[in-house]
Amino acid sequence: MGPVMRKMPTKLWVLLLFHLTALWNTTDAQIRYTIPEELKEGSIVGNIAKDLNLEVAEISDRRLRIASDSGKQYFDVNLGKGDLIVNQRIDREELCGQSSSCLLPLEMIIENPLNLYRVEIEIQDINDNYPVFQTREHILNIAESTVPGARFRLESAQDSDVGSHSLRSYTLSKNGHFILDVKTNKDGTKLPELVLEKSLDREKETVHTLLLTAIDGGSPERSGTAEITVRVLDINDNAPVFDKAVYDVQLQENTALGVVVVTVKAVDQDEGLNAEIMYSFGPHTTEALHELFSVDTATGEVKVKNQVDYESGSSYKFDIVARDKGVPAMEGLCSIHLDILDINDNVPEIILKSLPSPVREDAPVGTVVALISAKDVDTGDNGRVILSLAPGLPFTLKPSISNNYALVTGATLDREMNPTFMVEIRASDSGSPPLTSKKNIKVDVLDVNDNPPVFAQSLYTVYVQENSAAGSILCSVSASDSDLGENAKITYSVINSKGGDIPISSYAYINSENGTVFSMHSFDYEKIKVFQFLVQAKDQGSPSLSSNATVHVFIQDQNDNVPTVIYPSAVLGSVSHQRMPRSAKTGHLVTKVTAVDADSGHNAWISYRLAEATDSSLFAVNLYTGEVRTKRSVSEQDDSSQRLLIEIKDNGEPVQSTTVTVDILIEDGLHEPISDFRQKATEKDKKKSKITFYLILSLASVSVLSLVTFFILLIKCARDSRDNGSCCISRDSDGYKNPNRNLQIQLNTDGPIKYVEVLGGDMMSQSQSFGSYLSPVSEFSDLTFVKPSSTLDFKDTLRGLDASLPDSAWTFESQQQLNSCL
Ligand SMILES: *[C@@H]1O[C@H](CO)[C@@H](O)[C@H](O)[C@H]1NC(C)=O
Ligand SMILES: *[C@@H]1O[C@H](CO)[C@@H](O)[C@H](O)[C@H]1NC(C)=O
Repeated sequence: MGPVMRKMPTKLWVLLLFHLTALWNTTDAQIRYTIPEELKEGSIVGNIAKDLNLEVAEISDRRLRIASDSGKQYFDVNLGKGDLIVNQRIDREELCGQSSSCLLPLEMIIENPLNLYRVEIEIQDINDNYPVFQTREHILNIAESTVPGARFRLESAQDSDVGSHSLRSYTLSKNGHFILDVKTNKDGTKLPELVLEKSLDREKETVHTLLLTAIDGGSPERSGTAEITVRVLDINDNAPVFDKAVYDVQLQENTALGVVVVTVKAVDQDEGLNAEIMYSFGPHTTEALHELFSVDTATGEVKVKNQVDYESGSSYKFDIVARDKGVPAMEGLCSIHLDILDINDNVPEIILKSLPSPVREDAPVGTVVALISAKDVDTGDNGRVILSLAPGLPFTLKPSISNNYALVTGATLDREMNPTFMVEIRASDSGSPPLTSKKNIKVDVLDVNDNPPVFAQSLYTVYVQENSAAGSILCSVSASDSDLGENAKITYSVINSKGGDIPISSYAYINSENGTVFSMHSFDYEKIKVFQFLVQAKDQGSPSLSSNATVHVFIQDQNDNVPTVIYPSAVLGSVSHQRMPRSAKTGHLVTKVTAVDADSGHNAWISYRLAEATDSSLFAVNLYTGEVRTKRSVSEQDDSSQRLLIEIKDNGEPVQSTTVTVDILIEDGLHEPISDFRQKATEKDKKKSKITFYLILSLASVSVLSLVTFFILLIKCARDSRDNGSCCISRDSDGYKNPNRNLQIQLNTDGPIKYVEVLGGDMMSQSQSFGSYLSPVSEFSDLTFVKPSSTLDFKDTLRGLDASLPDSAWTFESQQQLNSCL
């Protein structure tokens, strides 16, 4: 670089010389140097001594210096060498800004002589500045809906250098959406613009980061960058999208309210409100579904809102809409297929197809009583019903088609035992656990006349006093019938017992309504002692049933007969005449008075008493036998004619008596008519032996009875004796046969009544008679003796009959007046 000298006084020169750098201008006295800016301190600008045509020594002597006009001293003079040197860093941009030329005028002063020189130093630009963006980071908000072609002004960069060193171009980092368009202003400044080439999608890329580079024209070029952040603004261009198009869900019925059935989830790729989703039922959802389920608008939870019943709906299909909050809103849809699972929540039901019909008690086994069906609204095993009956009932269930059953009788019925049945029917389904139910069916059993009337007693024994008034009540029979209604309505009637020759209707009459039996007339014991008849009870059923009972009527004796004297036979009021020898000794049997009484028992027990006598010291009458004997030997002093008044009394109440008068003629020299007596005696003996034969025969028969009875009683006594020991008889039957007594025992086997009649006294009389009556069906244990004390043994009674007659030990106490039935 050489100094340029020019003699150009005007500024035009300066301009002219701008392009002629480093040229020494000789035409003007003015000296110009051209240096680049930013030279180091001490750098030589030019040899000013030489250029001023001065010697080196001279400039030092003449003190060449740079006139300073306050401000920075960019230059200095090296006096030793005469060089103009850079004193401090020169920044062209600082000095001249953006003006294209930068001249720094210097005034050099030299003394002796004082002279002034003008020196111009042109500072040339070097590319020492970078293009600079005011803001290094630039944010651009662009809606995603922006159409391609849209332009966005970018900030220009500044480069302090001038000329070719100034900003020359912009570049944009590589991207898929934007290009850079740089416009040049009239003043040459460049304006970068961002042009949208391809539409944006926020959902793909929310932010685009671009780098804008400004490059200057220096060499090497310098550049500056700015970061451009393009934020893509969302618009509601995305509909919410569900995870699944169809949700398959299963739900048990009866799930608790509030339980989440399914949570649907939709995603909206937008942001902000555009992505805020609200869930709701689809537009065509039924009211019923709204009742059952709810959708949480925020969470998408589908919850149980009401009791879900499998039986009212086994599956549901509905849609759920997800709607964002953008404007306009966008929607997505999904379907829910909800299957309800059955649980065994329904009790089986027992249905009566027909009202149970009453069943006759004689209905054959298998008679249909009712038709029943079973139902369970659950499905599968939960709905499979089995019916059964409570055990112990005479019914069975007969299954027929499809859950239908017939309730039939399983055994014969008896209305009298069970007039109605509560048939418990049990139903159970096959669920796990099974559910059960019960139903009671009332089955009435209809009566059939299958029960005959039954008498309270099969045998009625009635004791009735003889002579009691006709129409008096004999007894009341009663029968019951366990059937119902007409079948149990009983009428009574009297029927003749078999073999009865007298129509019983003449004896007794029965009230057909209440069974009271009346006598038809008064009875005479002496004519009839006993009679029997059958009473029949008959119900009104169809056919009617009947049963019989036997009534035994025993007429009880009353002392209504006066003893009758048989011997000595005498017309009433007349006197019997007897003879006896005077030689008779003590105890001579003068005569024997015999009397009979038509009554029986006590009433027929006859006693004899000497009421009056001519000489009461001579004769005595045996109280029991009626024998008249001498009390002492007849003496000569005794009157030959003796009269005795003998009173004969029975033992009845009141006592009936009669008298007989016996005249006795005591004859001297009269001997006892022995042969006559003997003959009489043998005759009598014959009679007696005949009687005895009968007696033995009878006794033999009776003994069989009595032995058995005795045996039974013995056992009984053996037991009883432990308690009181009162009934056993230790005394043997000595004196069983009193020779003075005629005892006859008859075993009457004629007809249904068996009785033993024991006759006391003379054969001809029936004075003492009693019987033991055995009913046709009775056993020995039923033997009813008329009625000695029940504890007495038959044998004892027999003996007692004989032996006790004299001492009145014989009692008929139980043969009391018994007008009522036993
Ligand atoms: C039965 O009826 C008759 C006549 O009405 C009556 O005299 C009698 O006392 C009745 N018997 C009973 C046991 O009611
Ligand atoms: C009742 O007695 C009558 C007459 O003797 C007879 O015909 C009938 O069969 C008897 N009835 C019964 C149930 O014994």
